[in-house]
Amino acid sequence: MKTKSKILVTGGNGQLGKELWEFSSLHTGLEFVFLSKEELPIHQFELVRNYFNTLKPAYCINCAAYTAVDKAESEKDLAFLINGEAVGVLAAICKEHNTKFIHISTDYVFNGEAVYPYTESSLTDPINVYGSSKLEGEDQAMELNPDSIIIRTSWLYSALGKNFVRTMIQLMNEKDQIKVVNDQLGSPTNAADLAETIFNIIGLCHLQIYDWSPGIYNFSNEGAISWYDFAKAIKEITNSPSVIKPISTKEYSTPAKRPGYSVLDKTKIQETFGVKLRDWKKSLAICIEKIENNR
Ligand SMILES: NC(=O)c1ccc[n+]([C@@H]2O[C@H](COP(=O)([O-])OP(=O)(O)OC[C@H]3O[C@@H](n4cnc5c(N)ncnc54)[C@H](OP(=O)(O)O)[C@@H]3O)[C@@H](O)[C@H]2O)c1
Repeated sequence: MKTKSKILVTGGNGQLGKELWEFSSLHTGLEFVFLSKEELPIHQFELVRNYFNTLKPAYCINCAAYTAVDKAESEKDLAFLINGEAVGVLAAICKEHNTKFIHISTDYVFNGEAVYPYTESSLTDPINVYGSSKLEGEDQAMELNPDSIIIRTSWLYSALGKNFVRTMIQLMNEKDQIKVVNDQLGSPTNAADLAETIFNIIGLCHLQIYDWSPGIYNFSNEGAISWYDFAKAIKEITNSPSVIKPISTKEYSTPAKRPGYSVLDKTKIQETFGVKLRDWKKSLAICIEKIENNR
């Protein structure tokens, strides 16, 4: 009997990892192995090598990342180890094993000074440690394994895990009034939509319907909004009586600077892999329904 090709998912306990897990049952032709940080810390390189020697995966999706944007300002070495060096080593190990590597990166590789959407070839210029560490990971992956696919995404949320949508719902249950930043523009991304896109890319390339086309790709939901708009939509969908007040970035100080504009142009991923984009508000409503059903 022919053995199924294996897909290794690192960082399997994060929000994207969990969404991938939900989709994995639909892909019966492939075998999935999800590993949490505890099971496979990607910065322990010998452990990673041993896993690859035993598992011999056909694909590796790296969802493992240091994602604490503000904490990264004071934990630079750790952020660079996990988001930079470990990504390079993982990419290189994938190359040695002929494993197709998909890595996830971020809109925070940009400085936010643009006034129109960033393409994959727009100049990168991160303004915080997290963004710099993610850019280092992109660079190392592409240098050590030019066959990699890197998907940059933005404002990721899901029904599970720690994210803006779940935080807002909680705050709206606790407070009459919430202040939200109105001068940072971006595009939210439902992690379920990103998970579906990753699976479609792997599935279609596996069936040789599309060619595996390495490089950087942008992906988010469709639409450009502020965090304030995002919060207002959450209020509207959940019928919350809380009042949402717009404030400026200057009025909401954080250890890490955020880009003022980080909308991504998604033409390349649509044209290369036939990816369909969902409207941000429709996807938000689907996620909120899932959160409410999970209660
Ligand atoms: N969240 C966003 O808004 C956003 C936006 C753009 C791009 N992205 C990118 O999208 C990807 C997925 O993000 P996410 O929101 O799913 O992040 P997440 O929920 O924080 O998941 C990341 C996972 O990686 C794990 N991890 C941390 N260090 C690790 C290590 N050394 N080895 C193995 N696993 C490790 C984390 O475990 P612990 O939680 O136990 O540390 C967590 O389970 C990341 O590459 C992120 O940079 C995220």
